[in-house]
Amino acid sequence: MRIVDRVIAGFLPVVPKAVVGRVAQRYIAGETVADAVRVARNLNAQGFRATMDILGEDVHHIDQAREATENYKRLLDELHREKIDSNVSVKLTQLGLKVDKQECLALADSVVRRAQEYDNFVRIDMEDSSCTSDTLGIYTELHRHHRNVGVVIQAYLHRTMDDVSRLLDTRPDFRLCKGVYVEPAAIAYKEMSNINRNYLMLLERLLRSGIHVGIATHDETIVQKAQKWIAELRLPRSAYEFQMLLGVNEPLRNRIRAAGHPLRVYIPFGRDWYAYSVRRLRENPRLAGYVLKAMFTR
Ligand code: FDA
Repeated sequence: MRIVDRVIAGFLPVVPKAVVGRVAQRYIAGETVADAVRVARNLNAQGFRATMDILGEDVHHIDQAREATENYKRLLDELHREKIDSNVSVKLTQLGLKVDKQECLALADSVVRRAQEYDNFVRIDMEDSSCTSDTLGIYTELHRHHRNVGVVIQAYLHRTMDDVSRLLDTRPDFRLCKGVYVEPAAIAYKEMSNINRNYLMLLERLLRSGIHVGIATHDETIVQKAQKWIAELRLPRSAYEFQMLLGVNEPLRNRIRAAGHPLRVYIPFGRDWYAYSVRRLRENPRLAGYVLKAMFTR
């Protein structure tokens, strides 16, 4: 990322919310389930799978967690009714992880059960490092009883290879990503070259272990390496999928599909779009240009 983009990224908290909203539009399907279904239907027609995230995180009252749970269950009903090829991605802090862990487990369990009724799947997103152990703990408990649940692991955390070693025997379903939260150097790789190296080590281990892997990245070097290993190991399409975020590098998305690989697009939607948008904008290599343009146009 150029220095000017990095500087703007640092100033994002003081950029007016309306400007952030305008620049981040590309990353978000809209505010309603209907918006997300429309985007997913379009992607399905192009041969892509989807996963939907109802935006929102870090709730402070258990009632908000219960409401989010009901919204996820209604979303699963709707995906089934509308015959959309999409699973759901859930953040546990939205289901009350920081309020009441036991209740959070029960709420997540009810979402996974609803998905099971439709032969669908729930992916648990990974949040900042204050949530890692609890998220993996709840995932492990859910996975003990249900096969239709998976979790995200982050290549920037030093602990991730150990987590993989600990969980691999349980035949987990992992989405591997680099990791998006700002973490201290004591627990996380900070240099992109180290994050990439760890990502590739983890990816090779996961692909060789025969579990299902979601390869979540827009990094073309990693995508190429993954394609090479998939070919060498003769992995069937059922063993892996590429995963990309809505609004990021559509040409790469199309190339992966054209090469015959399954690809799932992450579709966030809802009114609580601010925190997600800021995370996406911080990673946009052309952030400064977009923000400046949005500040001076209406
Ligand atoms: P990298 O950041 O190196 O980007 C590679 C290239 O992609 C960049 O050079 C740039 O061109 C392009 N690019 C990336 N982001 C862009 C953007 N926002 N706008 C424009 N261009 C962009 N993280 C997490 O901590 N917990 C989670 O649960 C998830 N879940 C998740 C699901 C899916 C499907 C994906 C793809 C990613 C996540 N992430 C995540 C985010 C992930 O950790 C990471 O922050 C981003 O994917 C960016 O990392 P890349 O691997 O794309 O590499």
